Amino acid sequence: MTKLLLVCGARPNFMKVAPIAEVCARRADATSIIVHTGQHYDANMSRLFFDELALPEPDVNLEVGSASHAVQTAEIMKRFEPVCLETRPDWVVVVGDVNSTIACALVARKLGVPVAHVEAGLRSFDRAMPEEINRVLTDTISDMLFVTEESGMRNLSNEGIPEDRIRYVGNVMIDTLLRHRERADRSRIRSKLGVEKRGYALVTLHRPSNVDDADTFNGILDALERICADSAVVFPMHPRTRARVEQLGFTDRIGGIENLRIIEPVGYLDFVKLMADAMVVLTDSGGIQEETTILGVPCLTLRENTERPVTVTHGTNRLTGPATKNILAAYDAVRAAPPAAVAAPHLWDGKAAERIVDALLGH
Ligand code: UD1
Ligand code: UDP
Repeated sequence: MTKLLLVCGARPNFMKVAPIAEVCARRADATSIIVHTGQHYDANMSRLFFDELALPEPDVNLEVGSASHAVQTAEIMKRFEPVCLETRPDWVVVVGDVNSTIACALVARKLGVPVAHVEAGLRSFDRAMPEEINRVLTDTISDMLFVTEESGMRNLSNEGIPEDRIRYVGNVMIDTLLRHRERADRSRIRSKLGVEKRGYALVTLHRPSNVDDADTFNGILDALERICADSAVVFPMHPRTRARVEQLGFTDRIGGIENLRIIEPVGYLDFVKLMADAMVVLTDSGGIQEETTILGVPCLTLRENTERPVTVTHGTNRLTGPATKNILAAYDAVRAAPPAAVAAPHLWDGKAAERIVDALLGH
């Protein structure tokens, strides 16, 4: 029996871990232990996803909570080490690029426990992004690297990672999307919000580069205000962004924009429904660029770069950066002629988790 310790901590981790846990539950030769670091802890950033995705309760919750990068990463490491020693897994599996990812990978590696990184090889080549540091470091120390798109294969090869550690397996986030798409379609979130199919833009923002700087954030709000003159805008606001709105004194400004519907972050099923029925999605999220590509909904990414270039070459994603005029030019272009996806990226077929578990068990 091979024992996989699955690490999750922040919102986008839950969708990635769920299909791997599900494959382990189905197989007689694999078992999983779920460790939640507690990086995200609000009910609508964590609990909801366990309920909706039928993700088993975490076996351990490290309850680290929020702190600076150094403190959060260090606390996760301190609290994860005894868990890793006690449970002695055959593999520690980390996903994505958040602080929980690098913290647990580093602990396991130093204890001599093999580490698998799911969603390896993605690079924005922007070292000002905390996630880019987490990606590069995690890939360097992982024993098995599971890649979602061709760019990841090239990046890892250019960095000199031996080929026998790398596997192209597809995308676990898309496993979850395909698995829950029909259930999501039954969500009543649109009627609760009073918005029509294709009658609204959906917005999410949480990158420090967009929401920590007053001028940049203000420029994005200028663009949203103009878009609101044209259609409703639904904005489930990340807690980090909500905190910045208050600190930067933007509360009144946002409250005064007609047609702008700021809501709390929503659960996965409601969010998939909101994406699927949107006229356009404006975001700085990583995962949402991928999900809109499969849903065929136009996505404007308010960043200068993406670590997921296949969503631009094959999907519906366009990079606008955060400048007001560039966002609006892209919005107008999408309104005039919505881009169609060329093709689903290779192996984004709902079976990535099976390939991952097969590879780990066969190793
Ligand atoms: C983290 C990840 C980011 C990922 C994002 C997904 C890192 C470095 N960043 O960013 O890569 O895209 O999650 O959502 O790992 N907060 C709450 N309640 C919560 C969680 C956070 O109020 O449940 C607030 C706190 O004020 C906290 C802030 O959000 O200080 C930032 O949380 P943190 O986990 O440090 O980073 P995120 O911005 O969420
Ligand atoms: N998501 C959600 N509710 C929301 C916003 C996003 O369920 O209110 C989902 C979204 O569908 C995707 C994931 O959260 O699966 C993306 O997480 P996030 O944008 O926080 O992180 P990133 O992908 O940027 O690391």
